[in-house]
Amino acid sequence: MGKVAEAIDQALERILPPAEGKEARLMEAMRYATLAGGKRLRPFLVLASATLFEVPTERSTRVACALECIHTYSLVHDDLPCMDDDDLRRGMPTTHKKYDEATAVLAGDALLTYAFEIVSDPRTHHDPLVRAELVHAMAREAGAHGMVGGQMIDLLAESEELDIGAVTRLQQMKTGALIRFAVEAGAIMGRATKDQRQALQNYAHDLGLAFQIVDDLLDVEGTEEEVGKKVGKDGDAGKATFVSLLGVERARTQAQMLADQAGLHLEMFDEKAELLRLLPHFVINRRH
Ligand code: IPE
Ligand code: IPE
Ligand code: MG
Ligand code: MG
Ligand code: MG
Repeated sequence: MGKVAEAIDQALERILPPAEGKEARLMEAMRYATLAGGKRLRPFLVLASATLFEVPTERSTRVACALECIHTYSLVHDDLPCMDDDDLRRGMPTTHKKYDEATAVLAGDALLTYAFEIVSDPRTHHDPLVRAELVHAMAREAGAHGMVGGQMIDLLAESEELDIGAVTRLQQMKTGALIRFAVEAGAIMGRATKDQRQALQNYAHDLGLAFQIVDDLLDVEGTEEEVGKKVGKDGDAGKATFVSLLGVERARTQAQMLADQAGLHLEMFDEKAELLRLLPHFVINRRH
């Protein structure tokens, strides 16, 4: 995963607009937030799913960068004082701390729209129908029925009692949606069959939930140095999470079960799916 993360860092460095002109501060903030590091899990998934269908890396890398721009925008806004009010992200001051709130809002806005500029560019795919499908799927998973909708319910989870079903739905939207798009992107570019798409969707479903359970566990068990962000935030906010509802032990067992199950959905793929098969175990054993 380290090698992929490095390649994505370099690709992002090239693809993000340079900081120039009167508006340079905006691009500086976009670059600051995006190039700060991060595990690059979603780009990894785009590249790994594209590999199944032998999609050229130049193409999948562009979609991977676009998705990382959307993910980064979601973090910049998530950290704002009106949301989680966090000062530390990826081991560095959050964008609104480094710059200011207005710049952080604008940098998030610009990262979101830039993602669509990247994906709709003919360099991403020569077939306009494939580009349109990518744009449509990305919009669906990032928007009100996907990540943003999940963020809305997540804020309500601080003041409302949510049961395990409601928390599962919230996490599928908040975190699962972008992970789903990451895996789907390879299938769209590779013109996968219906069965292949379904298998990948099932994989993304289990992986996404496992990933978020570990995020919730790290908020309880991790240290600030390890995770590069403040810990103990969910408990302080009184937020309903898998860990608050199930307890640490059962949450961990659940994540393990989901990780095992994720790999089973990939049976129809050959050895090209090896990276995707290995990933769930990295995800649940991660310390950051
Ligand atoms: C953090 O995502 C926010 C969640 C959706 C859980 P990551 O844990 O992937 O954050 P980075 O990109 O590595 O910083
Ligand atoms: C944020 O979830 C998920 C997003 C869509 C940005 P969290 O609020 O749990 O993420 P962290 O813990 O701050 O990274
Ligand atoms: Mg949040
Ligand atoms: Mg947060
Ligand atoms: Mg969290």
